[in-house]
Amino acid sequence: MKQAGHPRFVTFEGVDGAGKSTHVGWFAEMLAARCGVEVILTREPGGTALGEALRSLVLHRPMHLETEALLMFAARRELLAEVIEPALARGAWVVSDRFSDATVAYQGGGRGLAATKIAVLRQWVHPLLEPTLTVLFDLAPEVARRRIETSRTRDRFEAEDEAFFVRVRDAYRATAAEDDRRFLVIDGSRTVNEIRKRLEEIIASLCC
Ligand code: TYD
Repeated sequence: MKQAGHPRFVTFEGVDGAGKSTHVGWFAEMLAARCGVEVILTREPGGTALGEALRSLVLHRPMHLETEALLMFAARRELLAEVIEPALARGAWVVSDRFSDATVAYQGGGRGLAATKIAVLRQWVHPLLEPTLTVLFDLAPEVARRRIETSRTRDRFEAEDEAFFVRVRDAYRATAAEDDRRFLVIDGSRTVNEIRKRLEEIIASLCC
């Protein structure tokens, strides 16, 4: 799977509660240790001082759907300029907790923003860069919701109803099916240990 000279950019995606945030930090540490490489871990929206300020706005302030999508891409532009592009340029790996597939799934699938508008922003903000690998945590929305309800105070997205998360999940699965060379789908209902075993196999294939 390792491609010489190719940007090493890995993203984690999935509906809220599917488990990606439990595993992404561990994955980045294991990747660094096993492959002996520099790994930068970041998240979206956020990852820079400005991006974290935008994150608290989009997660908590009501706004027009297009404003929401534009802010996601504004935070992304900043993250690319400050973190992702310099890291890839010096040969480091980048692992990001979410990237543009989240906008397709949440603003597109979940909220119904036209795919053509998201495609324009994507083309504007990162015309040449897509993740090398995207790990999608897939889990039935009713199970994911139960996990969120018991574990934390909910933000503007997490407070959406189950139908919203069904649409988000469907959009993620459709994207993964369209691009099965980039996506690896993990069953989020598996135990933490089972998922770690799968992630270890993925890491081994990345740095062999
Ligand atoms: P999340 O990874 O769930 O953060 P945490 O695990 O700390 O709760 O991300 C925050 C929310 O942002 C999540 O509900 C999905 C949403 N989001 C979008 O709607 N569009 C996007 O483009 C991105 C990056 C995130």
